[in-house]
Amino acid sequence: MEDKIKELSQQIEEFKIEGKETLEKFRIQFLGSKNVLKDLFAEIRNVAADKRKEVGQSINSLKTQAQNKFDSLSDSSEEAEEQKSDIDLTLPGEGFKLGSRHPLSLVNEEIIEIFSKIGFNVSEGPEVEDDWHNFTGLNLPDEHPARDMQDTFFIEKDPDWLLRTHTSSVQMRVMEAKELPIRTITPGRVYRNEAISARAHCFFHQVEGIYIDKKVSFADLKQTIEYFAKEMFGEHAKIRLRPSYFPFTEPSAEVDVSCSLCNTKGCNVCKYTGWLEILGCGMIDPNVLKNAGIDPNEYSGFAFGMGIERMAMLKYEVKDLRMWSENDIRFLDQFKATW
Ligand code: PHE
Repeated sequence: MEDKIKELSQQIEEFKIEGKETLEKFRIQFLGSKNVLKDLFAEIRNVAADKRKEVGQSINSLKTQAQNKFDSLSDSSEEAEEQKSDIDLTLPGEGFKLGSRHPLSLVNEEIIEIFSKIGFNVSEGPEVEDDWHNFTGLNLPDEHPARDMQDTFFIEKDPDWLLRTHTSSVQMRVMEAKELPIRTITPGRVYRNEAISARAHCFFHQVEGIYIDKKVSFADLKQTIEYFAKEMFGEHAKIRLRPSYFPFTEPSAEVDVSCSLCNTKGCNVCKYTGWLEILGCGMIDPNVLKNAGIDPNEYSGFAFGMGIERMAMLKYEVKDLRMWSENDIRFLDQFKATW
């Protein structure tokens, strides 16, 4: 018995690892559920009674020896595995991939910033709007043919409710609040029932603005738009106004900015006209002021509205409107914010 214990102790001592399997064999032999030490314990009853205690202790220390050997070998084998896996701990860690701001947000903020410098604050309103704020209050009563200009998504249960087709609805709400004078811009998402293509989408974003005070004139409007164009497109930007029609403004105009790519010489971005259309505007129709409870004999105002996607397309020369809402990381990654 004692010889056997000595032999096993030596075996443990001399055991060398040659691959993971040999370590597993060692574990089964000395520490597994049917290990050799159990056999030894079983044989203890054949040992002379006065030696049993001593033999028992020797078997126990054999067990500890096996356990220690196993622990130290499995540690070092893990280390060896790690070293084999070619990890170079001196390499710099993987950087976190930072997101970028959406180009439409960047342009939106730029527009807000430009107008805030001349005293415009920001107003917001609901995207699900009622007929009054989106249409009727803005001089577009039922059956008005200009309602067709704005393919509207109506709420099925109650056609008095709809997805706003422009953010002029927010202007209506601000006017009704009547904290005069008003100088505010209204950025937000709008919806129109259009087939999705490179040039049209069923939703897009606008920034509209109004200024209402005593004696606001068309000259104020023109000056404000010119200031905006220069801030947005550079000091050399020129604007031109073309007569237009909007039900809520009279007179109305569409504004073009000189094409900064060809300097009005004509290129494929401006379709060889030298000019790019950027916004619609006009003097707020007296009827609209009246609808909001503002006396048109005392107050006058101007309004303007532009598409953020359109601004972004001009700024970044993106030709397909769908890019803005597809969330393709390869596209979005190119617009690193400088904030
Ligand atoms: N609401 C108009 C549109 O969506 C834009 C506009 C706003 C025009 C204010 C004139 C004045 O097309």
